[in-house]
Amino acid sequence: MKTIFSGIQPSGTLTLGNYLGAIKQFVQLQHEHHCYFCIVDQHAITVPQEPKTLKNNIKSLAALYIASGIDPEKTTLFVQSEVPAHTELGWMLQSMTYMGELERMTQFKDKSEGRSAVSSALFTYPTLMAADILLYQANIVPVGDDQTQHLELTRDIADRFNNRFGDTFVLPEIRIPDVGARIMSLQEPTKKMSKSDENTRSFISMLDTPKQMEKKIKSAVTDSDGVVKFDKDNKPGVSNLLSIFASCTGESIEAVEEHFKDKRYGDLKKEVAQAVVDTLAPIKERHDELINSKELDEILTNGAEKAHKVASKTLNKAKKKMGLIR
Ligand code: TYM
Repeated sequence: MKTIFSGIQPSGTLTLGNYLGAIKQFVQLQHEHHCYFCIVDQHAITVPQEPKTLKNNIKSLAALYIASGIDPEKTTLFVQSEVPAHTELGWMLQSMTYMGELERMTQFKDKSEGRSAVSSALFTYPTLMAADILLYQANIVPVGDDQTQHLELTRDIADRFNNRFGDTFVLPEIRIPDVGARIMSLQEPTKKMSKSDENTRSFISMLDTPKQMEKKIKSAVTDSDGVVKFDKDNKPGVSNLLSIFASCTGESIEAVEEHFKDKRYGDLKKEVAQAVVDTLAPIKERHDELINSKELDEILTNGAEKAHKVASKTLNKAKKKMGLIR
């Protein structure tokens, strides 16, 4: 049995990419491992958030976790800002992280590009992410492939801390799904599907209606050669639809390619839309029942208590090692 940690930002309604790249793996892992799943609200405030919207997004994300199949009896589900050890260790790790390392982070470059007011928290974001993971001594971190660089930095920081102060943190391994690790935009399939995309037709929200999902998939950008084949470089749009279908149905890319071999793009889109609706519609239904329930609040309160116990133990160990004691 291993320890698993992962987090999702409540910075907007989650997309099909978040579901296939992250949540779907979380649900599978909880049956075999000791899991912590977090609503990383302190990461979300590294870019401006409207307070009321953020509050709603936190609850909605909690409801989506549960509606997707996260079992609060098996896992610890909690809100990051309710466990102060995250920011405390985050600060300590900032003192162990170099400016040059943070400057190299592509997520920082992407999110800060063209903006006039970039918060310093957006820059130091990866050290808070390292703290999230290291506090629970996680062995495995399941994420989509856009988080690879952050995970490598987490390992470097942990290794540096251990070398300087003695064995303190477990070095975590990244776990990326075979299919669905990077779901692409439906409108610009060379770009990642993202909840912050201004063009709402480019992503499927987990809370879209079946009609909206069908419409968006119908208008997905493909190409003009009319052959259904998986070829990321030359046919990014079609390959993305095949990945979505494979990930939703649990089939391999090869099996899916074979299934669509002699079909047209219209048929492909129809079946992909159906697979997406079948996957997400029951989750939305359960989400809507849970969102204002007492049950959800209780799950998060219990989760924060459990997380706090484990996190404060690691935090105290790290503080002692650094000399932050009387
Ligand atoms: P976030 O909130 O952007 O995304 C949450 C998870 O969804 C995955 N993901 C995708 N997977 C496939 N295709 C996509 N288009 C797609 N878009 C997003 C992400 O890879 C991620 O797994 N920094 C993290 C949150 C975080 C975290 C952590 C993760 C904070 N602390 C500790 C793991 C461990 C982030 O911004 O994820």
